[in-house]
Amino acid sequence: MKTHTLLMPLDMHLHLRDGVMLENIAPLTAFTYSGALIMPNLVPPVDTLAAVRSYKERIISAVPNDYFEPFMTLFYKNYDKAFLESVVDEITAIKLYPAGITTNSEGGVESFNIEEMRTTLEAMSDLEIPLCVHGETDGFVMDREAEFMSIYELLAQNFPNLKIVMEHITTKAAVDMLDKYPNLYATITVHHLLLTLDDVIGGMMMPHHFCKPIAKRPEDLDALLSVALEAHPKVMFGSDSAPHPQHKKESCGCAAGVFTAPISLQLLTEIFEQFDKLDNLQAFVSDNAQNIYGICPEFKEITLEKRPFVVPQNYSGVVPMYAGETIGWAIESVD
Ligand code: DOR
Ligand code: ZN
Repeated sequence: MKTHTLLMPLDMHLHLRDGVMLENIAPLTAFTYSGALIMPNLVPPVDTLAAVRSYKERIISAVPNDYFEPFMTLFYKNYDKAFLESVVDEITAIKLYPAGITTNSEGGVESFNIEEMRTTLEAMSDLEIPLCVHGETDGFVMDREAEFMSIYELLAQNFPNLKIVMEHITTKAAVDMLDKYPNLYATITVHHLLLTLDDVIGGMMMPHHFCKPIAKRPEDLDALLSVALEAHPKVMFGSDSAPHPQHKKESCGCAAGVFTAPISLQLLTEIFEQFDKLDNLQAFVSDNAQNIYGICPEFKEITLEKRPFVVPQNYSGVVPMYAGETIGWAIESVD
């Protein structure tokens, strides 16, 4: 039986929610990952030191073992430097959402006025706090990410010492941006390495493939695969696994988010094996993130085995991507 071993996998973009959902969902990631960058789009958003600390405690209490580190983020607002100095040791990044662009982002940035943001972004540069960005405009849905590229350029040029992470990129336009500015990085999800818009609405409408940003065209998928499979050093895995209760997905007015936490490593292994790039998966799923963020994760060794695995229909009321379908790799052991 063919196997593949990964050390200290990291998921650098993860939604865990709160309450019962957190208790049910966090153990799934903690089982196979050494750590994850935790998104702050709770209601209300995580935007104070007290909120960061207590959310981190709730995550740690929800996880059954000690071998998982939640890397915390703060919800972007125009903070002053004194506040940022008080939180810098407790957070790994700050996450910026344009207002209203996705789930629970109503308190995000209304307009990208660089002068209004300058104090905060300069303080973040000085304190070496990376800025993670949900890069979409409010334009036509297929163009939102490409339209956002000019804002990334503005940020990258004005704040050359700020590490800017283009989150969950879905377009060739974003891939092309990576090598243009030394301070731009990106995360890529596993579903965006598998889906195009055809898989969302090309046949029957597939609510469990619907997310923001929406999956794009075949040439965009190819561009994402090209940098992920080569483990481009400025690209990291970030699942954007976003659990919603089944009734919120399978409903009129489907919530955005693809839930991949329990199957992301298996799917990544399958993709990298198909393209004969398994040797690059370690960098994509851990080493690049360690270098970019300067983090040192808890030791964990995951062995996957190449055998059919039927994806469960749901995990505590949350339907995963590919529910009921057979995928090619399974988790064999975790040490
Ligand atoms: O599809 C998405 N779901 N995209 C996001 O940016 C947020 C996420 C969520 O929180 O559900
Ligand atoms: Zn997200």
